[in-house]
Amino acid sequence: SSSSVQKKIGIVGSGLIGRAWAMLFAAAGYTVQMYDILESQLVTAQQELDKELHSLEEKGALRGQLKASEQLALIGFTQQLEELVRDAVHIQECVPEQLQLKKSLYSQLDGLLGGDTVVASSTSTFMPSLYSEGLQRRQQMLVAHPLNPPYFIPLVEIVPAPWTTAEAVERTRLLMLSLGQRPVTLKREIEGFATNRIQYAILNEVWRLVESGILSVADVDRVLSQGLGLRYALLGSLETAHLNAPGGVADYFKRFGAEISAVSATYGPTPDTQAEGAALAEIARQCEKLVPLAELDQRRATRDAFLIHLARLKKQFE
Ligand code: NAI
Repeated sequence: SSSSVQKKIGIVGSGLIGRAWAMLFAAAGYTVQMYDILESQLVTAQQELDKELHSLEEKGALRGQLKASEQLALIGFTQQLEELVRDAVHIQECVPEQLQLKKSLYSQLDGLLGGDTVVASSTSTFMPSLYSEGLQRRQQMLVAHPLNPPYFIPLVEIVPAPWTTAEAVERTRLLMLSLGQRPVTLKREIEGFATNRIQYAILNEVWRLVESGILSVADVDRVLSQGLGLRYALLGSLETAHLNAPGGVADYFKRFGAEISAVSATYGPTPDTQAEGAALAEIARQCEKLVPLAELDQRRATRDAFLIHLARLKKQFE
């Protein structure tokens, strides 16, 4: 049956992202089991999930048809990797971003996996071939990269290794759709996947504009938050171009292509953000004036509250 209720999802690592996935899967009615090497982390996860789900319920922002208490009842915990793997149709790996740690975990998983379990990594930086090469079950392993906070940002980047089967990719895609997430599937792995490649292109240019003294941090961020970002919350950059010329995107590039190339030729080299200590100190000084470090949590809460509203608005428009 297409019912998710009997299907078990295993989550490895019960930190920030592991908990977010647990909430997404439980909202869709899956049975979830979380595994962590630290018992204290599992205890914290259970408390945080209880708090977060009830708080979302109070705000009317809980996903899915089930009550918070019903969703919580779907989430179990274990410290045995073997138990986690047993009967799991999908395992979502959410351990810290350290390649050696991921490698040793995947080789442990490799010995426990049956033929029918897909293992997806939440990694934001490691191409799947980096940790799955040489493993028996490597064809069942891929990346499913969420954006923080996953509960309010639907994108998931699915990235196969060269040896990942088309079936594992398709199953993961359908699974993400069943959560109400919006996956994109890369044809092949590439450094930075798609999101970070685009995000870094933006970071490089805002760095250059601040470093050259053309804009302050507040103003360069306004270009996105009061300008481009408002369009991008609905349309991507290609559809934006498509709407911005009478004859659509072909007309747009015919009219503006030369200008785009001319401006692009003036960008200069990629900033070495680690070597340019003075530029970074200045960016940090301005950012910390905008949002003092002690107020980061408060600002994150504002971001999440905004994203709740934006998610509702987007649904109305789609
Ligand atoms: P975190 O530090 O909050 O949680 C990691 C958890 O893994 C901890 O509970 C830790 O005890 C546990 N752990 C460590 N070693 C383990 C092992 N061998 N087996 C089982 N559990 C183990 O980290 P976070 O932020 O949740 O990140 C997890 C993954 O998600 C990383 O790969 C990260 O790149 C990715 N990610 C993070 C995002 C973020 O904004 N934090 C966004 C998108 C992806």
